This record gives sequence, C-alpha cells and structure tokens, in this order.
Amino acid sequence: MSALELRDLVKRYPSAGGDVQALRGVCLKVEPGEFVAIYGPSGSGKSTLLMMAAGLLAPDSGAVLFDGREIAGLSAREAARYRRRDVGFVFQAFHLVPGASATENAAMKLLGDGFTLGEACRAARPWLERVGLGARLEHPCDRLSMGERQRVAIARALVGEPRVLLTDEPTGNLDSERGAATLTLLRDLCKEREIPVLLVTHDPQASAFVDRVCTLRDGTLAEGLAIELSAPGASFVSPPAATASAPAASASAPAASASAPAPAPAPTASPPAASASPPPASASAPLSG
Ligand SMILES: Nc1ncnc2c1ncn2[C@@H]1O[C@H](COP(=O)(O)OP(=O)(O)OP(=O)(O)O)[C@@H](O)[C@H]1O
Ligand SMILES: [Mg+2]
Repeated sequence: MSALELRDLVKRYPSAGGDVQALRGVCLKVEPGEFVAIYGPSGSGKSTLLMMAAGLLAPDSGAVLFDGREIAGLSAREAARYRRRDVGFVFQAFHLVPGASATENAAMKLLGDGFTLGEACRAARPWLERVGLGARLEHPCDRLSMGERQRVAIARALVGEPRVLLTDEPTGNLDSERGAATLTLLRDLCKEREIPVLLVTHDPQASAFVDRVCTLRDGTLAEGLAIELSAPGASFVSPPAATASAPAASASAPAASASAPAPAPAPTASPPAASASPPPASASAPLSG
C-alpha cells in the first residue's frame, strides 16, 4: 500500500500570448485507501496536476512520489512501467482508438505486458460489464455515445490491478444515476484495495462520495471547497459529507492531487484478480447508459 504525494509542483506553459502559470507550488498527499476530490474552475490546472501525478507530464520543479520513489527520477523504462502497471488513468478526453472495439480499447494497456490480444480482451470484459457496457463489447468506439465512451475509458483504467487511480472528470458525460454508480465504484475500489484515488471533477454530487475535498484555483491548491463554489447557484455543492472513513493519517495530510494509468495484470492472463475481479457487492450495480 503506497501513498501518492505531490510536493511543491510548479508548471508554466510558454505561450505566445504570455506564459501560463498552471501550477504554483501544489502540495498534496493521498494516503492508501483515501478518496480525494479536486474541484476548481476551468483552466485552474486540474488536468495538469493529474498528468504530473501519472508521470505523463514533468513539472518545472517539485516532485511526485509513489511507493517511496520519485517519478521524475525513474529511468524511461521504469517510468513507462509506472504508467502502465501502477497507474489507472481516466483521461478527460478519453483518448480511445476510434476504429477499435470497446473491448480492444479497454484491453489495450495489457498488451505491453505480454498478454495476447485474446487474453487482454478476456481480462477487460468484466470491467466493461461492470460499467454497464456488456451489450456494447464489440462496438467500435467511434459509434458509441459520449457517455459510453467515457465508461470505456473508465474500464480501461481499471483493467489489471492499478495501485493508484487518477480520474479526470470521469462523470462529466454521465447522467446523475450513472455518475453516482461510477463514484461508488471508484470509492469501493479505493477502500477494497486500499489504494489512493484522486478525482478531478465539476460534479456536485461527487463531494458526498469522497473522504475530503480540495479546491484548485489559479494553480494553487487549498483544503476544502471554496465558499463561492458552494454558494447557491454555483455549479458546485456543499462540502463533502464525511461519508467514507478516511485513514486517520490522511485526515491530517496536506492537500494535494494526483492520478495515472492502469496497472498491469497478474502474471497470469486471468481477469481482474481478487478485489478487482468479481465486482464487489457494493459496486455491483452496472453503470447504465
Ligand atoms: N500545452 C499547453 N500550452 C499552453 N497552455 C496550456 C497547455 N496546457 C494547458 N494550458 C493552460 O494551462 C491552464 C491549466 O490547464 P488545465 O488543462 O490543467 O486546466 P483544467 O483545470 O483541467 O481545466 P478544465 O476544467 O477546463 O479541464 C489553462 O489555462 C490552459 O489554457
Ligand atoms: Mg481539465
């Protein structure tokens, strides 16, 4: 069980119209078994932060630590392994291969780990069924609805045994019932596997599913939900209900953000192992739609 820690992350994007200071020294620790949501206005740096946690983007300064290792210090091979095996990442823009089927897309990350296509697809199917796509397994992704594509992207992140989940607006295209089922699934995986889960979201209902909420604004992260974001008429709701029991350590941990791609399968080509395989009872309701 490993925590995900972001230490003083700074990122500036050079731009013709003037540099964009996307992150201005963000610190956050997400403990094993802790589910953390990051809210924030569009353009506040949320996706930037998640991509750094996944090792997909390097900070100008600062560090991302997972399992006691600094991601920036890994060799190219080790970093690729971190992204492939340790991280389950749900991209805001999905990044699916249009002509490939839902199953092939969800299976894709296993192919770099010695799985044959058939083995990878067998491992991916239970996750597609779990997100309510059992009737769309062979559909090319470019013929799926946006909500269905989003659920393929979620299934892809969950295939294998990710040791950290990084999800960028995973309910952005889902109705509230399906969104709630997705949030329940993420929370259940977080608790069952005792992995850190970081959720970037604009979804008002998400705060009720997580252990704590942070707000990112203008590249600066703060604990809690900003008052104006919880005001009546705002697109956010009240602060998180203290539903899930956060690990004691996490309660005092500094706020931070992070996330990454899905993990690799066990040496065998079998479907999601143990906690991953048969959908836990609490998360058994398929995500419809
Ligand atoms: N490659 C880039 N080059 C220049 N500017 C960038 C680049 N990527 C992001 N930005 C800028 O950095 C800021 C943060 O972007 P980011 O995508 O992290 O925001 P976000 O909080 O995820 O927004 P949203 O809620 O709309 O997804 C934005 O102002 C964006 O325009
Ligand atoms: Mg974003």
